[in-house]
Amino acid sequence: MKRVVTLISGRGSNLQALVEARIPGAAFVGVVSNRPEAKGLAFARSVGIETAVVDHRTFETREAFEEALHATVERFNPDLVVLAGFMRVLGEEFVRYYEGRMLNIHPSLLPAFPGLNTHARALAAGCRVHGATVHFVTPEVDGGPIVIQGVVPVLPKDTAETLAARVLRVEHRIYPQAVRWFVEGRLRWRGGGGVEVVGGRVEDRVWFVPALEE
Ligand code: GAR
Repeated sequence: MKRVVTLISGRGSNLQALVEARIPGAAFVGVVSNRPEAKGLAFARSVGIETAVVDHRTFETREAFEEALHATVERFNPDLVVLAGFMRVLGEEFVRYYEGRMLNIHPSLLPAFPGLNTHARALAAGCRVHGATVHFVTPEVDGGPIVIQGVVPVLPKDTAETLAARVLRVEHRIYPQAVRWFVEGRLRWRGGGGVEVVGGRVEDRVWFVPALEE
């Protein structure tokens, strides 16, 4: 079994999608939140996953927070660290330690719209498609090599909220797929931007929502 530790800050719907995907060979051994009030913690506990809180507000420096976070994550002895709506930027030392075994999901088609407010920015830019990206984490925020992307249409009546909901549905499909590949030992990152899924088809790495109707 591969030991998976998930880092969250809030709702935890991606965490839930990952757990409910019942990925063979994946053991979700721990959930760590930087916010004690994160809803995802309750879900984790309800399915018997151990939880921990490392509240960034109780540390004087980012270094001290990340040291505590690192120690907490290490207690679970992870093979894979999954950032699922974890809303703190992680420093170089933390990121390098887990290089090649830490994934993030970001709500845009990277490299478009790194950072926050991605849905409003996609609407403001007049994008006709939008989506989500799972990538390996590197010290460059939202800049790591891309594993899989999910693409959704932008509809004329969309608000940031309706678009976010459509993107979230595709997030819940692509993240379990990426974690499945990792756990199967099929995800290879050969440095730079080059990610390979061993034995996979090219089209497996992009998920289209084909219909405009919902
Ligand atoms: C998701 O949309 C995720 O892509 C995004 O936060 C949301 C978390 O939802 N992540 C980021 O913006 C990371 N910078 P969830 O807690 O329900 O999974």
